[in-house]
Amino acid sequence: MRAAVFFFLLTSAISLVGANFILPLTSKIPRRLSKTLAHPKFRNPQSVVHLDGASFDSEYLINVTVGGQLFQVILDTGSSDLWVTNSNFSCVDANHTIVPPETCQFGPAKFNSSASTTFEPASPNVTFFVQYGSGEFLRGPVGFDTLEVAGISVTGQKFGIPNLNHFLGDNVSEGVFGLAYPGLTSVYNVAENGSLTQSPYTPFFFNAVEQNKLTEPSFSISLDRASLEQEENDPFDPKLGFFAFGTSVPVPVLNASITVPIQGYGDGFIPSDASDAQFFWYTIDIDSYIFPGSENLLTKSNNTILDTGAPMNKVPSRVAAAFNALFIPPATLNENSRYVVECNATAPTFAVVVEGEEFTIDPRDQIISGKDADGNKVCYSGTQDGGPDVPGNHFILGDVFLHNVVTTFNPIDRTMTLTQRAPY
Ligand SMILES: *[C@@H]1O[C@H](CO)[C@@H](O)[C@H](O)[C@H]1NC(C)=O
Ligand SMILES: *[C@@H]1O[C@H](CO)[C@@H](O)[C@H](O)[C@H]1NC(C)=O
Ligand SMILES: *[C@@H]1O[C@H](CO)[C@@H](O)[C@H](O)[C@H]1NC(C)=O
Ligand SMILES: *[C@@H]1O[C@H](CO)[C@@H](O)[C@H](O)[C@H]1NC(C)=O
Ligand SMILES: *[C@@H]1O[C@H](CO)[C@@H](O)[C@H](O)[C@H]1NC(C)=O
Ligand SMILES: *[C@@H]1O[C@H](CO)[C@@H](O)[C@H](O)[C@H]1NC(C)=O
Ligand SMILES: *[C@@H]1O[C@H](CO)[C@@H](O)[C@H](O)[C@H]1NC(C)=O
Ligand SMILES: *[C@@H]1O[C@H](CO)[C@@H](O)[C@H](O)[C@H]1NC(C)=O
Ligand SMILES: *[C@@H]1O[C@H](CO)[C@@H](O)[C@H](O)[C@H]1NC(C)=O
Ligand SMILES: *[C@@H]1O[C@H](CO)[C@@H](O)[C@H](O)[C@H]1NC(C)=O
Repeated sequence: MRAAVFFFLLTSAISLVGANFILPLTSKIPRRLSKTLAHPKFRNPQSVVHLDGASFDSEYLINVTVGGQLFQVILDTGSSDLWVTNSNFSCVDANHTIVPPETCQFGPAKFNSSASTTFEPASPNVTFFVQYGSGEFLRGPVGFDTLEVAGISVTGQKFGIPNLNHFLGDNVSEGVFGLAYPGLTSVYNVAENGSLTQSPYTPFFFNAVEQNKLTEPSFSISLDRASLEQEENDPFDPKLGFFAFGTSVPVPVLNASITVPIQGYGDGFIPSDASDAQFFWYTIDIDSYIFPGSENLLTKSNNTILDTGAPMNKVPSRVAAAFNALFIPPATLNENSRYVVECNATAPTFAVVVEGEEFTIDPRDQIISGKDADGNKVCYSGTQDGGPDVPGNHFILGDVFLHNVVTTFNPIDRTMTLTQRAPY
């Protein structure tokens, strides 16, 4: 989400609990809606919940309770922590000067540890700290409490309760719920001189597996596309997707489906197939991107993350340049190196090929309504420049892609299943 800057890269080596590498199986599993709906677990209403759209449909929210207190938080497969705003928080500017709390634009609920009978504070010598590429940062205490998501309850879950926050929220969301691997968690040991060393912990999903709370160790997500009118006029859009533990989500799908391994990493965050590879994000290998003229372009990548917390796709520079030239009229780069398009432009066709299976993106997802720095309406291309294709640079398939597939994450087996959705 929001291109988190992984501070621990600068401060510490990563110490992930070693696990045997499981050779992932690759298979094509045609899954029809009738089959999906017939699945016995689908009848358990607790495990399937709605997502809401927020921030003009650039974010997807899920309800969670922490120590019995309800929060609407951003669903983020691109990070690993749960954090919720502290009832005792200060909002600060970029220079750590306190500004009015409204400046942070959090939703109304705040975590009050005194009001939870199950809350336990962590050692005062650890801190939660996350920083985003936008310059936003959040810092504060760490605690343990009972966390419930989609009817699944985990006790003693470590989480962040930031109280020193430089943030620009949406007036609705009150935190973030991360679903990625333990290696991306943001709790640090604080040395006497103030230096921070990452102290990875087990996040919610992995604890749910350890505590035997899930019959199947997987979760599935579908994110709906909103109408352009809704995107432009209404910051909140209820029921804009589904989240499910251990079963699929109730949306019609087509035959195109593929199960692929999650890509691991070696030193320096370079993709690695070695047996001691470590796992951080939901990274997959892309065979190619298909659009008119793409035949003559190298579009393969082994470092592309599926990220529900990222509204747009970010692909290698040469792919972005060739694709964005095909809008009618063509997209242009603005002063912030973002591709902008006429809101009434015609978007080119675009498909993502994963292990030979082609997943098409609806052209409506490729034009995103937004505002520029002066508050004027502007439309962005859904597929932006993610930088050069060099080892260590990762790319993103965000909501623009995820509107078109059902994604089933199986972090324990280290596989993901993508299934093309029926057009909607
Ligand atoms: C979250 O909970 C609130 C309060 O119960 C409810 O109004 C809202 O619809 C819920 N949102 C979702 C996505 O279930
Ligand atoms: C709230 O913050 C203030 C100042 O940072 C501190 O003195 C106080 O103990 C805190 N209260 C709680 C309940 O955390
Ligand atoms: C923060 O400090 C820098 C340099 O001291 C200054 O240029 C900038 O305007 C300050 N920003 C805010 C938000 O006060
Ligand atoms: C937190 O909860 C305690 C106990 O219920 C209450 O006394 C206190 O006023 C609450 N603090 C805030 C900031 O809501
Ligand atoms: C949040 O609310 C404030 C005050 O009502 C408003 O100025 C601001 O534009 C809102 N922000 C968003 C993202 O809706
Ligand atoms: C915290 O750190 C201080 C000094 O940095 C040390 O004296 C104290 O024992 C530590 N407390 C815990 C609970 O680790
Ligand atoms: C701070 O202390 C840690 C160990 O306690 C040490 O590794 C680090 O180099 C120190 N940093 C500075 C800036 O002194
Ligand atoms: C999907 O699969 C079914 C059963 O295997 C087959 O009958 C149907 O033709 C397929 N549809 C498409 C569009 O390939
Ligand atoms: C990933 O792709 C790069 C080229 O971009 C290549 O050098 C590297 O060997 C690949 N790694 C794996 C594990 O496939
Ligand atoms: C598209 O919008 C632009 C203004 O942004 C306008 O000049 C142009 O005529 C529109 N084109 C079509 C085909 O509606």
